[in-house]
Amino acid sequence: MTHEVQGVVARIQGAPVQTETILVPDPGPGEALVRVQACGVCHTDLHYREGAINDDFPFLLGHEAAGIVEAVGSDVTGVAPGDFVILNWRAVCGECRSCRRGKPWLCFATHNATQKMTLADGTPLTPALGIGAFAVKTLVAAGQATKVDAAASPAAAGLLGCGVMAGLGAAMFTGEVQKGDSVAVFGCGGVGDAAIVGARLAGAAKVIAVDLDAQKLEWARGFGATHTVDASKEDAVEAVRALTDGHGADVCIEAVGRPEVFQQAFFARDLAGTVVQVGVPDPSMTIELPMIEFFGRGGALKPSWYGDCLPSRDFPMLIDLYLQGRLPLDKFVSETIALDAVEEAFHKMERGDVLRSVVLL
Ligand SMILES: NC(=O)c1ccc[n+]([C@@H]2O[C@H](COP(=O)([O-])OP(=O)(O)OC[C@H]3O[C@@H](n4cnc5c(N)ncnc54)[C@H](O)[C@@H]3O)[C@@H](O)[C@H]2O)c1
Ligand SMILES: [Zn+2]
Ligand SMILES: [Zn+2]
Repeated sequence: MTHEVQGVVARIQGAPVQTETILVPDPGPGEALVRVQACGVCHTDLHYREGAINDDFPFLLGHEAAGIVEAVGSDVTGVAPGDFVILNWRAVCGECRSCRRGKPWLCFATHNATQKMTLADGTPLTPALGIGAFAVKTLVAAGQATKVDAAASPAAAGLLGCGVMAGLGAAMFTGEVQKGDSVAVFGCGGVGDAAIVGARLAGAAKVIAVDLDAQKLEWARGFGATHTVDASKEDAVEAVRALTDGHGADVCIEAVGRPEVFQQAFFARDLAGTVVQVGVPDPSMTIELPMIEFFGRGGALKPSWYGDCLPSRDFPMLIDLYLQGRLPLDKFVSETIALDAVEEAFHKMERGDVLRSVVLL
C-alpha cells in the first residue's frame, strides 16, 4: 500500500517551500514507516532549500523528529509497531572500517530507506539527512528509529534527532569535558545552548557563553552558563582569558561555523586544551594559522559530527535524564507550529527570534 500524506517540499533552489501531497511506500526489508508527531526546524533544512548541501531537488525537508512506528519490514526486529521513537541520521552499518574498529559513532556507511518517497506524479524525493519528517508519515531505515520512553513529549524528544544532540555530544563526547573543566561556547543558538547543558552534565565548573546577541546570552544563562561574553562589545579571546585566570578555557566549542569564530576558539583555549568544531562551515571558508601556534599550544582540534553520538546508546539515556528533570529539552522549544508554517519559521530562525520552532503533526 502507498500512503498519501502531506509533506513540506523544496522543489527549486531558494524558492519558498510548499506543503504538498507526497506518496510514502509501505516498509520493505530493513525499513520502518513512522507516523511523525513532531519535527523541529533546523538550519540544515534551510541549507537544503538554498542548494547549499547538494542539487538533488526536490527535497522532502525535516529531520529532527519523534513519532510512532506504524509498520516495519518483514525482517525488522529492533523496533515494532506502536513504539515511540526518535529518528536519527546515524543508523550504523556494523560493517564499515570504523564500525569494525569499535567506533560505530563514526560509521562511514550509515543506512537509509531503500525505497523512495515521491511526489504525487512519481518524481522521487530526496529526504533531508535521509529522514524527511516534515510529513505526516515518513519511511526510514529501521536503524534510524530509536525506541525511547513514551512518557517524553514528542516536541522535546525529537530535538535529540539533530541539533540538540550535536551540541550535547560536542561537550560530552567530542570535547570529553571533565569534572572541574572550564568550557567556552561560541554561538548560543540551539546547538551552543545544548553544548552548555552538556558541559554542565559532564561536571564543568565554569561555562562561558559567547554570542553577539544579548537575548541569546540571557537564554544561555538560563541553560546554565556561569558567565557571558558579548562579542559585539568586547574582545572574545581576552574576555575568556580574563574569566579563566588569564589561561584560557580547557575546552572551547565553536557552534557558529565561521572562520573568525574558530580563530577565537583556538586562541581562547588553555595550553593542551581542546577546540571542538560543531558549527558547519560553508565550502568557501578557509582558516589560516601560524603553524607554531598549532604546535606550541598542544591539545586537540576536533570536528564533531552529530556530537559523536550513538543513537542506540544515547537517546534512551538522555530521555531518561529529561524525564528526571536533569535535561531541560522543553526549554529549546520556542514555539510549536503547523506543517504549513515552516517557511515562516525559516525567517524567524534567520532573524534569531527562536531557538527551535517545532512542527506538531
Ligand atoms: N556538527 C553537527 O553535526 C551539527 C548538527 C546540527 C547543526 N550544526 C550546526 O551548528 C551551527 C549552529 O546551529 P544553531 O541551530 O545553533 O544555529 P543558530 O543560527 O540558531 O545559532 C547561531 C548562534 O551564533 C551566534 N553568532 C553568529 N555569529 C557569531 C559570532 N561571530 N560570534 C559569536 N556568536 C555568533 C548567533 O547570534 C546565534 O545565536 C550551525 O552551523 C549548524 O549547521 C552542526
Ligand atoms: Zn559502519
Ligand atoms: Zn539538523
